[in-house]
Amino acid sequence: MNRLDAKVALFTGAGRGIGAETAKLMIEAGAKVAIGDVLDERGRETARALGGDALYHHLDVTSEESWTEMIAAAAARFGGIDILVNNAGMFLGKGVEEASLDEWQRLVAINMTGVFLGTKLCLPALRERAQASVHGSAIVNLASVAGLVGSQLDPLYSMTKGGVTLFTKSSALEFARKRYRIRVNSIHPGVIQTDMGEQTFTARARNMGSNDAEAARKLALSTHPIGRLGMPNDIAKGIVFLASDDAAFMTGAGLVVDGGLTAQ
Ligand SMILES: NC(=O)c1ccc[n+]([C@@H]2O[C@H](COP(=O)([O-])OP(=O)(O)OC[C@H]3O[C@@H](n4cnc5c(N)ncnc54)[C@H](O)[C@@H]3O)[C@@H](O)[C@H]2O)c1
Repeated sequence: MNRLDAKVALFTGAGRGIGAETAKLMIEAGAKVAIGDVLDERGRETARALGGDALYHHLDVTSEESWTEMIAAAAARFGGIDILVNNAGMFLGKGVEEASLDEWQRLVAINMTGVFLGTKLCLPALRERAQASVHGSAIVNLASVAGLVGSQLDPLYSMTKGGVTLFTKSSALEFARKRYRIRVNSIHPGVIQTDMGEQTFTARARNMGSNDAEAARKLALSTHPIGRLGMPNDIAKGIVFLASDDAAFMTGAGLVVDGGLTAQ
């Protein structure tokens, strides 16, 4: 189950957090992984710890030139790309009145333009490998519960993740119509304990008029009926499943991994 033998996965923003944990799980499942991030030192460290089946290359998802270099590096080392994980993202943590135009544009560049460029520029490599594999290639986009329901904490982040949710469905339909044999699915995490998870606690505390991140963490916890916050591994398992041939009949779908948050 969930094996990825002989597959090559390209990850964005996988120097740390959910991406780094997923890269580790994919290697355990038999894949080779190319990790891109803007945090070069952290990314190199992550790849080094994963051994010879991982490479790190600098990638700024907002830059077309940077994508071209990243894809060339992955293809040169591993011979192609079967799986694209559009994982890089940023959280702003500000309300509509507090956010500036520059902050909005940065959010859009990373959370949306990055997904568009990754999908567009990896397409030739994904199509090529799809021809030679039984069930084709796969793209997994990191959306969020904030791409399914509203977020009073960060409406602008929610707008970008809502975009990722529907781009996932739309690109899945486009590629199916064109018979590209590339499945596209999204995953929707609840609050996960990563650096970004911490940023949500800080923003939540600010909204509560304090700097008590621990109280904010407890409040976030109370919105997860399952009784705990998520760990990167909870999401990594879902991504590995969506990328694997066990999800061969899934495309244009959203996998919700949120401890029951959006069931309420
Ligand atoms: N942590 C959560 O609670 C949570 C919840 C729902 C969705 N998500 C989504 O999951 C994904 C991973 O989040 P995480 O929690 O691991 O966050 P994280 O902050 O730990 O990791 C995000 C990574 O993206 C990288 N990144 C930022 N800008 C980049 C750029 N321009 N080019 C390349 N890389 C860039 C960062 O350097 C970082 O390594 C994000 O898309 C996030 O929106 C996270």
